[in-house]
Amino acid sequence: MEPIIKVKDVQYCTLQCPDLDIQEQFLIHFGMHTVEKTDEMLLMKGDGTQPFLEKIIKGEKKFISNAFVASSMDDLEKISQADSFGDIEELSTPGGGYVSKGKDLDGFGVEVVFGIQELEKESAETIPTNEGRKVNRMNQMKRFLKGSYPRILRFAHCGLNAVDPQASFDWYQNHLGLIASDKLFLGDPKDPNSPLQGIFSRLDKGSEPADHHTIFFLSAPMLSEGKPVMNHVSFEMFNIDDVFTGNEMLESKKEEFNYFQEWGIGRHYQGSQLFDYWRNPFGQTHEHQTDGDMFDNTFPTRELNVITDEAGLGQEPAESQWGPSISNTFGDANNG
Ligand SMILES: [Fe+2]
Repeated sequence: MEPIIKVKDVQYCTLQCPDLDIQEQFLIHFGMHTVEKTDEMLLMKGDGTQPFLEKIIKGEKKFISNAFVASSMDDLEKISQADSFGDIEELSTPGGGYVSKGKDLDGFGVEVVFGIQELEKESAETIPTNEGRKVNRMNQMKRFLKGSYPRILRFAHCGLNAVDPQASFDWYQNHLGLIASDKLFLGDPKDPNSPLQGIFSRLDKGSEPADHHTIFFLSAPMLSEGKPVMNHVSFEMFNIDDVFTGNEMLESKKEEFNYFQEWGIGRHYQGSQLFDYWRNPFGQTHEHQTDGDMFDNTFPTRELNVITDEAGLGQEPAESQWGPSISNTFGDANNG
């Protein structure tokens, strides 16, 4: 079945947090800048061209929605006609544009946007990296001031604990054209008794490169007592230095501000990103990551046994290529 539309990017995520001042401070330490703030709503940006990348509404801790970018106004019209999506509305947030709002099978919000004006240029300078004998930087020094804030390039992906990850993936595939990159099973994928733990899914951008995953569907029954919750929201950093300066910043603030490092720094297997996960004071996990795999739409779906495939020692699910073992609270119901 052809999907209704194929979205071409993600734009921002929306979370609900009990205290906007606390979340604003956390996100500043995390690498963001305040764009707009009222008593009820906060908008934060990075140093890339998205006019904002996290929207926070005041209220009980909760994941509200992801915003995906349609390829055309026609596509936005098309999706707005689908069951579970609403009429097109004009956005009043920075960059303007239009939105149709829907809900997925678990009630998570799904916004499809079009026409948001990107900022003219990035507000961070990137200095090339020399790798081995491949010289990308000549007669130029690489300098970050000690204590620098990490620089965020873009909102990149989201993990959702779904009541039925396969059904949720199918819904996103049918509506927005997502493709499965990796399906993870706790056991032999060929054995029908092996439970499905999760599906990494990416956007279908034809021959253009797409991130290995834009939505990671995980099993709510395995992780969050069956409750559909956010697993994490993820932000792509300009480069590896930003992952490490971010780590240093959050480490130095964690006691005073009640932050918690969930897992990192390490290198994932599926997706290959360098990652570092931190919880805000409410328990909502935010990820810094960089250097992930990019696939076009021809790369085949892989089915993996997470215990033994792509695991160096084959002893634990979701092992890292290097770095610490996964925490035993990763993706729990406390993310809200
Ligand atoms: Fe992630």
